[in-house]
Amino acid sequence: MPKSTADEVIVPRIRRLAIVPPAATPPDRGESLPVRSLHLNEAPFPPAPAVIAAMQQAAAGLNRYPDHDGAELIAELARRTGAPAETIVIGSGSNELLYASADIALDPGDEAVAPVPGFPTYAKTISLRGATHVGAPVRADGVVDVAATLAAVTDRTRLVFVATPHNPTGGLMGAGEIEHLVRALPDHLLLHFDEAYYEFGRHAGAAESLPLIARRRGPWIVTRSFSKAYGLAGARVGYGITSDRALADAYRKIRVNFSVNAVALAAARTALGETDHLARLLDHTAAERQRLSRGLAELGLKPLPSAANFVSVLTPAPARLAAALAERNVFVLPFPWPGTEGALRITIGSQADTDAVLNGLRDALASR
Ligand SMILES: Cc1ncc(COP(=O)(O)O)c(C=O)c1O
Repeated sequence: MPKSTADEVIVPRIRRLAIVPPAATPPDRGESLPVRSLHLNEAPFPPAPAVIAAMQQAAAGLNRYPDHDGAELIAELARRTGAPAETIVIGSGSNELLYASADIALDPGDEAVAPVPGFPTYAKTISLRGATHVGAPVRADGVVDVAATLAAVTDRTRLVFVATPHNPTGGLMGAGEIEHLVRALPDHLLLHFDEAYYEFGRHAGAAESLPLIARRRGPWIVTRSFSKAYGLAGARVGYGITSDRALADAYRKIRVNFSVNAVALAAARTALGETDHLARLLDHTAAERQRLSRGLAELGLKPLPSAANFVSVLTPAPARLAAALAERNVFVLPFPWPGTEGALRITIGSQADTDAVLNGLRDALASR
């Protein structure tokens, strides 16, 4: 590329970054093969009717800026979680809070620990700050490895990302593992405990993590999302519960003004009350996850145990399998897993989605 005058102003750590947009889903043009979006861990069903009605009502007032603080949503989250409202922060998806943690905790030259494989935003936020990403290999069963995470921490570590259920593997940390992590991590760093798949984990039997994490003396944030179990990925709302008011204020200081729009606020508030809708989604996900896992095993693949709304399998040539599925308009995510041949992550969709994945994989494996 010819040299651009912009090169003069773009700082080297940004110039070095690659453009990595999130995966896209092609539009469904009503062709004979429907588009099946199983690569973004979205919910397969639309939001509850009451949520759609609340969004429509909020849309009628969009000439006004939203409530920047999201006071009503935060009051409801405080009531449900038992955390003081002053310690709760919101963001445009929990993604905004991942970026904020890196902004708050990292200076250039610092170190941050994040699992490998892991949610790509961790590495991106760390490099955006000019800090060093120290990878902590995830265990072979797809669960965050507490020992590897602790071993990766040094005096220069200022931030540690941990996720449970973990993405892209689905592994769930046990209460004892969380306790061990919380006890053994030094106080001089920020623990960002990412629970984007919290509701699925609880449904699968996970212990409530907040009381365990609250035992930590050093700073921590637990983030959760409305994108997954609440089916609001397109609305972009997430929240964080922090160790104390001073840390929450740091997130408030750097938040982009009005980053959570009024339609999203109305959607999130209403979705919290739609408990039957949530329960149906969670029951459906667990049943289809079991059916998909069994079907994958019958094909000779080895699905990892998952407590999330997706199942991953280690497999040679995951990109080839994903391409074979994409030819049938079924989109899944191949991902590299250092030390293995790679893996494929498949989001739990409708029953028809599960059938389409299993049929597509059966044919692709037979034509090897
Ligand atoms: C582990 C993990 N954390 C955070 C997010 C961000 O979700 P959102 O910004 O939609 O809340 C995702 C989304 O896929 C995720 O998988």
